[in-house]
Amino acid sequence: MQADFAVILAAGRGTRMKSELAKVLHPILGRPMVAHVAAAASAAGLAPVVVVNHQEEAVRAALQGSAIRFARQEQTRGTGDAVASALSALPDSGTVVVMAGDAPLLRAETISRLHEAHGDAAVTVLTAVVEDGAHYGRLERDGECQPLRIVEAREATPDQLAIREINTGLYCFDIGWLRTVLPTLKPHAHKDEIYLTDVVEIAAQQRRCHVLIHDDLAEVQGVNDRFELGQAREVMQARIVEHHARNGVDFERPSWVVVEPDVTIAPDVRIGPGVILRGQTRIAAGAQVGAHCEIINAVIGEDACIHSFSQLDSATIERGGSVGPYARLRPGSWICEGARVGNFVEIKASRLGPGAKANHLTYLGDTTVGSGANIGAGTITCNYDGFNKSKTDIGDGAFIGSNTALVAPITVGEGAIVGAGSVITKAVPSDAVAIARGVQNNIEGAADRFRARKATK
Ligand code: UD1
Ligand code: CA
Repeated sequence: MQADFAVILAAGRGTRMKSELAKVLHPILGRPMVAHVAAAASAAGLAPVVVVNHQEEAVRAALQGSAIRFARQEQTRGTGDAVASALSALPDSGTVVVMAGDAPLLRAETISRLHEAHGDAAVTVLTAVVEDGAHYGRLERDGECQPLRIVEAREATPDQLAIREINTGLYCFDIGWLRTVLPTLKPHAHKDEIYLTDVVEIAAQQRRCHVLIHDDLAEVQGVNDRFELGQAREVMQARIVEHHARNGVDFERPSWVVVEPDVTIAPDVRIGPGVILRGQTRIAAGAQVGAHCEIINAVIGEDACIHSFSQLDSATIERGGSVGPYARLRPGSWICEGARVGNFVEIKASRLGPGAKANHLTYLGDTTVGSGANIGAGTITCNYDGFNKSKTDIGDGAFIGSNTALVAPITVGEGAIVGAGSVITKAVPSDAVAIARGVQNNIEGAADRFRARKATK
């Protein structure tokens, strides 16, 4: 049987982060920490109820769109008070899993395992055995190894501090029982907070406390400061990279990439060092992404090659396309099959037809380029006059000479040729040659005469 609800505690400020941003909103691979927790709860078949207070609106906004309910904790008076404020969102009886919004690495399988171990206990708590319990609460046991209570590190005696079994902050509760015991908890003088952990002692006295010891320490690691945030990012990243690598993706330096959770990569894709893959990026089989590329919400087709140091944002590269090195493809760039974009080329809201080339130092904005057309080095589409954006249309097989300015709105017909250095302001008909530049004047012998004049001075 699955518990129906997971209460996620996310109302605290997270003072130790030393940040204006609420702790649970700090991003881990493009998603706020609390969204990872909610995703794990959902994956375990639970309906999340998120307890909010600090930066409430931002936390709600960060979780928008997912089927999540919220409960408001009026004052952040501790974890016990936080759970009490979620009770009205829960049924009268049944079981509920309670999770900390600052433990983003917890897996759905672990949540399910805890729930299955719960049975008819009042509380089941997930613990872990660590070398140094640091700031975690310690689980104290009696001579028969039965659980007694959880003691917070800040209130522990030296003997209790030496206990190596810590509270991970993941629990399963009998809801009806929780309703009767939470109102009896007293605030601790030390922080003037009500500790959820105090219910463990009550359950233990009733012999209704179960403990499940977890052996994956990385998974239960909470995030309390920026150092732990960095560690959580490393663990999450290693998991994602392992998943792709086992599916046949080749990472030249697996520890030196950023791959966000929603990215999809087909087998036989090669990813160079320093690559960053964000958002909904999709990469098809046989494609290659060279060193230090940043790829955001882009679609990369089969056997396409993105050379090093390129940035692609919401761009599409069809099969066999080639981009970079040092290219910048802004939103709406569409590079058709076999087309080539070379170094120091910027493209925005433009389509480069099949087999077309823009190999060097070019800006194409609001432009369509026909199949097989060649855009010479230093071509600029002048798409903005300071007020409006205008379009450029270059036909199939056209040839644009180097250092050309195409002043939009403008069309260059199929098969037309534009001479290098032209400033094109009138439509160029198909198969015409257009030249629009100063006329060259050669003065025979003038260079020699010039030098002679300078030498006599
Ligand atoms: C808590 C446990 C500790 C355990 C550790 C595991 C208590 C008293 N202690 O300590 O035994 O080892 O988690 O990570 O529970 N929160 C609220 N409202 C509040 C206070 C906190 O929603 O009034 C939320 C926080 O936003 C956070 C979570 O509860 O997401 C845990 O709070 P935190 O202050 O980090 O507890 P710890 O000191 O880590
Ligand atoms: Ca914590």
